[in-house]
Amino acid sequence: MAEISTPQTEKSSQEKETFFITTAIHYVSDIPHIGHAYEMIAADILARYWRRRGRDTFYLAGTDEHGQKIIQAAEKRGMKPKEFVDEVSLHYKAAWAALEIRYDNFIRTTDPAHEKYVQDFVQKLCDLDEIYKDRYEGLYCVGCEEYKTKNELGPNNVCLIHKKKCEGVFENIYFFKLSKYQNQLIDVIEKNKIEIEPIERRNEILSFLKREPLRDLAISRSKVSWGISVPWDKTQTIYVWVDALLNYITGARGHWPPSLQLIGKDIFRFHCIIWPAMLMAAGLELPRKIFIHGFLTVDGEKISKSRGNIIDPLQISRIYGVDALRYFLFREMPFGQDGDFTIDRFEKRYCSDLANDLGNLVQRVITMANRYKVPWRYKTITKSYFQIDRAIENLEFHKALDLIWDIVVEANKKIDTEKPWELFEKDPQKLEKVISQLLEAISQIAFQIDPFLPETSWLIIDQLKSMKPDHLFPRHK
Ligand code: ME8
Ligand code: MG
Repeated sequence: MAEISTPQTEKSSQEKETFFITTAIHYVSDIPHIGHAYEMIAADILARYWRRRGRDTFYLAGTDEHGQKIIQAAEKRGMKPKEFVDEVSLHYKAAWAALEIRYDNFIRTTDPAHEKYVQDFVQKLCDLDEIYKDRYEGLYCVGCEEYKTKNELGPNNVCLIHKKKCEGVFENIYFFKLSKYQNQLIDVIEKNKIEIEPIERRNEILSFLKREPLRDLAISRSKVSWGISVPWDKTQTIYVWVDALLNYITGARGHWPPSLQLIGKDIFRFHCIIWPAMLMAAGLELPRKIFIHGFLTVDGEKISKSRGNIIDPLQISRIYGVDALRYFLFREMPFGQDGDFTIDRFEKRYCSDLANDLGNLVQRVITMANRYKVPWRYKTITKSYFQIDRAIENLEFHKALDLIWDIVVEANKKIDTEKPWELFEKDPQKLEKVISQLLEAISQIAFQIDPFLPETSWLIIDQLKSMKPDHLFPRHK
């Protein structure tokens, strides 16, 4: 049976290169919430889009399993760290499977091959004279897993993000010579050797780099046992962020460099400063692009366990279907900006855009095609929608969905203006033409929504093949 495919065109040089996309790896101290799902779904949309275009695609995801934050979470549950991370890591995998996320590799930082590579990497930096030992006296936020300076903190050394007092750290540890990369970092960002998007973030990083002298980076901890040990000094473990960032290499299965790395705005300094400096020190190629997305809030508030407003993406998808969640997250708010999730707005979109506009359209058209005996003839989609493609490639997902819904709205209008039920008597030839055009419009819609709403896309094609209409988005109480 013929499937819908894109018109065959010559591959551009960009398309010849594997589309290697990464997401941040999740701390297993937390449970998967809607903010985590947001980034994973975005990567999935892009991976599906490029896969459908015929480009080799490699999507890497995973879990971040070492460090103080994780031991503390394990202790709270009365579990050994390894038992604990094994369990939570499975929750993440299960959540992504349920949300139709198709990554190609899932890396865990407790994988022995990863641990080995991290040691080799740090050893290499040491051999290259990029590492030295010194006394560290300062402050550390376990929530951020980050060394802090007083001026980054509120009164009483409270972390502004976690609202907790930072602990004092006094130890002899190893440092990476980050400060010497200051000018090179400015240079690679200014010359777009790494593209940083959105532009406001790029400017923010550049002005930070031009204003603040970088300090060398503490890359080990002497009192944190749950981590990868420093190869030449087993009394210390490697700083969890150095360990975590290297997942992008250990999980890459030889694909290098990443085409696109997606991260949230809370961790962009790690990714736009420390990460490229580590790569330059080791003589490795830099990622082509880093995109920094905004944060989701729930009813205007930060998502957090203590606020009790953790929205479980699985619960939403069990009630409304995965696609409804995927649709809402990317229709409402531009990906680079912050957005708010409210059940009220979600339900409005569900009813108007999905159940009414799309669901009813498909059902009406197939019902009429049956009644008036107009067959669905499979045709290759020849009309390309460059604007939709461009919007997806630019990560303007809301714009792409807006353009797709223009096709939906237009098709609904066509039914209302052409009134097929009147044509049945007056002009049977025109009737056939109108219904065929409507069938073609829904094929086109099924094709276009595929990266965003994969299940619905297939349901529409199934219904067209069987000519058995069914509710795509049932009503809820
Ligand atoms: O930071 N809205 O892991 P993480 C949107 N392990 N995105 C959100 C969000 C929200 N409310 N909350 C979290 C870590 N995120 C490290 C990363 S990568 C080498 C190591 C995003 O589990 C967050 O910005 O705290 C990040 O990109 C991802 O979820 C994982 O966050
Ligand atoms: Mg976080």
